Amino acid sequence: MRTVLTYGTFDLLHIGHINLLRRARDLGDRLIVALSTDEFNLAEKNKVCVNTYADRKVILESLRFVDLVIPEENWEQKVTDVVTHEVDVFTIGDDWKGHFDFLKDKCEVVYLPRTANISTTEIKQNIATGGRG
Ligand code: CTP
Repeated sequence: MRTVLTYGTFDLLHIGHINLLRRARDLGDRLIVALSTDEFNLAEKNKVCVNTYADRKVILESLRFVDLVIPEENWEQKVTDVVTHEVDVFTIGDDWKGHFDFLKDKCEVVYLPRTANISTTEIKQNIATGGRG
C-alpha cells in the first residue's frame, strides 16, 4: 500500500485541481489531501475562500480518487504528517518545485505539472470582469 499526500486550498474546484488530484492518486494506492483551513489561508496566504473549509472538505471527499482529507493549519506540519500517516510519496504542483525537497529523507517528493491557464484566482477575476476573454 503506497500512501500519497498533497496540500492545497482547492477552492472553487476546477480542472487543474482535478488533474492534479487524479495524477497524485495514480502515484500510489491511497491519497490524503491536507486541506488549508480558512484561518491558515487568511493568515499565511492572504486568501479569502469562497467555499468554507467544511464545504471544501465535503467536495474533496466526494471525489473517487481522494481517500482522506486532513486540515493544513501551518507550514511546519509536513514532516509530522508524513510520519503519522506513513506517507510514501509527497506531491504538489510544480509551481512549488524545490520548496519541499527537505522531505526527501522521509519520502519520495514528486512535483506534478500544473495545468495551464486556470486557477481559482483567474476564476474569481473572470467572474468579477464578466467573462474569460
Ligand atoms: N494546481 C494545478 N494546476 C492549476 C492550478 C492548481 O496543478 N492550474 C495545483 C497546485 O499546484 C496545487 C493544487 O493544485 O498542487 C492546489 O492548488 P491551489 O493553490 O488550491 O489552486 P489555485 O487554482 O492555484 O489557487 P489560487 O489561484 O488561489 O492560488
